[in-house]
Amino acid sequence: MTTEVGKSVLITGASSGIGKELATLFARDGYHLILVSRSEDRLQTVADEFNRQYGTSSTVIEKDLSKPDSAQQVYDEVNRQGLTVNVLVNNAGVGAHGLFATETNLQKELDIIQLNVTTLVQLTKLFVRDMVARNEGKVLNLASIASTMPNPLVAIYGATKAFVLSFSEALYNELKDSNVTVTALLPPATDTDWFNKAGAENTVVAQGDLADPAKVAKDGYEALMAGKDKVISGASTKLAAAMASVLPSQQSANASRKQMSPPSEKSDSSSANLVIGIGVAALVATGVVAAIMYRNANPLEKAKYRYKWKRALGTVQDIAQSAVKQASDAKSKVQSQVSDLGDEVTSKAQALKAKAKAEQLKYKVKRKVADIDDASIGSMVMD
Ligand SMILES: NC(=O)c1ccc[n+]([C@@H]2O[C@H](COP(=O)([O-])OP(=O)(O)OC[C@H]3O[C@@H](n4cnc5c(N)ncnc54)[C@H](OP(=O)(O)O)[C@@H]3O)[C@@H](O)[C@H]2O)c1
Repeated sequence: MTTEVGKSVLITGASSGIGKELATLFARDGYHLILVSRSEDRLQTVADEFNRQYGTSSTVIEKDLSKPDSAQQVYDEVNRQGLTVNVLVNNAGVGAHGLFATETNLQKELDIIQLNVTTLVQLTKLFVRDMVARNEGKVLNLASIASTMPNPLVAIYGATKAFVLSFSEALYNELKDSNVTVTALLPPATDTDWFNKAGAENTVVAQGDLADPAKVAKDGYEALMAGKDKVISGASTKLAAAMASVLPSQQSANASRKQMSPPSEKSDSSSANLVIGIGVAALVATGVVAAIMYRNANPLEKAKYRYKWKRALGTVQDIAQSAVKQASDAKSKVQSQVSDLGDEVTSKAQALKAKAKAEQLKYKVKRKVADIDDASIGSMVMD
């Protein structure tokens, strides 16, 4: 445990899920906590818990961060209380499940953009300016595995997370000559209230194997402390990100749509249109990632990786089987088209042959008629 007495961390969305787990790690390490969310009661309960367990002090700020002026109000409140934010954790974020064109609500989506993107940018601008002036500070931004691919059925959420990743990586680069770092955390689907809040509880992903928010928070915390640009939490998330970086974007979109669909719905068979070369590249890339992770793992992690790889290979097998079936269907279709074409050619050839015969016959008949005519003219002359 490192004790950071005197340092403060501001965490948005610290009342539950990954944010609460992150707050626990900062509390354990002796930070003063500035906890922000809409529910003062829940934040106060969290603060009291930390105080009892770790003896940490906290400041609770109740704020709806989907409101346009909220970032400035939080910044003003922090300054009013004479606090310095050494670490900023932009964690608060929500999504909304449904088809963009016909199902989701525009105002809700604009609020999501405000919370996940605009407020995050405003808070970062306000606090990073002070960090740069002091030449010290750290920012952790909650991106997602969703940042790496298109996300049908949570299109706006996915787009906000793509923004967060791109913004964070660019800012990391801009600040690389300073002592201020920006880290993006990319969790996989995690066991929090996110799915209920987004109306996405009846989906393949929500009913599958969800990551432990404490483990996700630990990965983010360690990467943040090490000043890394980003961390993808979990072996299968790294695999998914590696796949997304080499697959055509519509293949990734199909895969992520399947995850966000109700468990009973059939998958889109176009996922089997995998181009062989790209599939090989994806497997090589993921193989390299897996080999590195496996080599550095302890025996327990190795057993976990073997289990996860078995499952991942199952998915690859499904895709391959589906591709083979599609190829075989296509072959039968071509064969039947060729056979139809053959029949057509044969019948056309037969028709031509018949026509030629008829022409020949016609010619012969004409000749006969001509012969008869010549003979009658001849006999007439003889007479
Ligand atoms: N769970 C996943 O599968 C997953 C995967 C990848 C990334 N993430 C990201 O991780 C972050 C944390 O989410 P989570 O999974 O821990 O979900 P969560 O348990 O629902 O936590 C969301 C937090 O954000 C706060 N929040 C929501 N709307 C707010 C608003 N308008 N103003 C202020 N605070 C607000 C909530 O507090 P109040 O309700 O008290 O306001 C809560 O503390 C999000 O950015 C999410 O997009 C989650």
